Amino acid sequence: MKKSVIAIDGPAGAGKSTIAKMAAKKLNYIYIDTGAMYRGVAWLVLQKYQVPVNTAQVLSVIEDINVRLAYDDNGNMLIFVNEQDVSTAIRTPEVTALVSQVAAISEVRQKMVELQRKMAQDGSVLMDGRDIGTCVLPNADLKIYLTASADERANRRAKEMREKGYDVDVEEIKKDIIARDEADMQREVSPLKKADDAILLDTTKMTIDEVLQEIIRLANA
Ligand code: C5P
Repeated sequence: MKKSVIAIDGPAGAGKSTIAKMAAKKLNYIYIDTGAMYRGVAWLVLQKYQVPVNTAQVLSVIEDINVRLAYDDNGNMLIFVNEQDVSTAIRTPEVTALVSQVAAISEVRQKMVELQRKMAQDGSVLMDGRDIGTCVLPNADLKIYLTASADERANRRAKEMREKGYDVDVEEIKKDIIARDEADMQREVSPLKKADDAILLDTTKMTIDEVLQEIIRLANA
């Protein structure tokens, strides 16, 4: 039977968004990139404060933040923060450097998780993040934990950033990825962790197409 609620979790740069977006399109499901939501919060923090920021500053920002997802004609997810389209602005290295600190704050998570659960309530949804299978949607019909070696993830992220015009150093990216994994795995609230009932998919030696086929197979199994 086709799985109606699919959760994909995993560390930074494992290809979650690329694959999840494609799988959602094939299945005709709504794609929800929860990382973009935490990035949206971090983006707004950076609009108001200079780094280093403290928890009180982040809390003041989320008090009346409005995070809204929308989809363009090609089905690409857009994210609006306080009605401003920040879909591109949330991908900068500055936002990436701050996002894990912001995402570790429980009040931030509470707010985002509430929104995420609302968006998933009608089913036909594919959500990706770090805590979807363990916390946001513990009753998901299918849970996948997508990972790959740190080297492979750094190479993929570097390629993606270069395609966007950034001049990047793979070693720097690898360091950032490892630091972000550590922060996401060590935090007290909803750390990154494979759910007991999630299927582990190590994509180090797989092509995008192979990963996609496997997810579609699991979704239809
Ligand atoms: O997926 P992406 O790399 O865009 O996520 C950015 C950051 O947002 C992660 O490193 C993590 O700190 C946070 N995040 C989270 N929980 C999620 C999704 C993302 O804490 N469900």
